[in-house]
Amino acid sequence: MTVAVHLVEHPLIADSLTRVRDKNTPNALFRQELERIGTLLIAEATRGLATHEVRVTTPLVSTTGRALTSQPVVVPVLRAGLGFVHAAQELLPSADVGFIGVSRDEATFQPKPYVNKLPENIAGRQCIVLDPMLATGGSLAHTCQLLLERGATGTIIVVCVLAAPEGIALLKSAGLDLAIYTAAVDEHLNEHAFIVPGLGDAGDRQFGSPASSS
Ligand code: PRP
Repeated sequence: MTVAVHLVEHPLIADSLTRVRDKNTPNALFRQELERIGTLLIAEATRGLATHEVRVTTPLVSTTGRALTSQPVVVPVLRAGLGFVHAAQELLPSADVGFIGVSRDEATFQPKPYVNKLPENIAGRQCIVLDPMLATGGSLAHTCQLLLERGATGTIIVVCVLAAPEGIALLKSAGLDLAIYTAAVDEHLNEHAFIVPGLGDAGDRQFGSPASSS
C-alpha cells in the first residue's frame, strides 16, 4: 500500500491557482478557475488508464486506434468536489458518477457522512475521487474506505487542488493505496484545520455559506 503524491506543475494551473487563492476573486470566477484546474489535473491523473487496440474506419481506409478498456467511476466529495464534476464528465463522458457527502465537524474536524450514492458496479474499475481540499485527510479517508467496502481494488486516484502535509500523512497511516494529483502541497493546517496559505473554504467559495445546522 502506497500513497504517491503527484505535484502537477503547469503554467495554466499555476495561473488559475493564484486566482482561486485570491480572496477578492468573486465566486463565479472562482468556479471557472477551479474547473480549469480540474480539467488539467484530471487529464494528468488519467494518463495511466488502460487502453486496447480497436479497428476504426476513416473516410479513406480501415486502420487501428485505441479505446479505453473500461470506464472509471468518478466520485466527487460534496460539496466542494462538485466543482470538478463538469471537467471530469467532459473528459470521461461515459464514466459513472457516484456522490459522497461528508461535512467536517467544526469542533473535532472528524468527517460527518450525509450522502452515499455510489454506482452498483465498482469492483474492478478505476475510481477517481474529486475533492479540491485535502486538509486533515478525514473526508478522503472516509470516502476511500466506502469505495473499498464496495469492492474497489487497486490504486484509487485522488484529484485535489491543495493538499496539506498533515492530510497526506494521515492517508499514509491509514494504509490506503492512492495516487494523489494536486496543484500544490501547502505549508500546514491552522488551529481551525484550514489549509495555509490555502484558498479558504472551497465549498463556500463556490456555493456560499450553508446554515450552521445544514
Ligand atoms: C471541506 C473540503 C473537503 C474537506 C477537507 O469540506 O471541501 O471536503 O473539508 O477536510 P479534511 O481533509 O479535514 O476532511 P467541508 O466539510 O467544509 O464541506 P463543504 O465542501 O460542503 O464546504
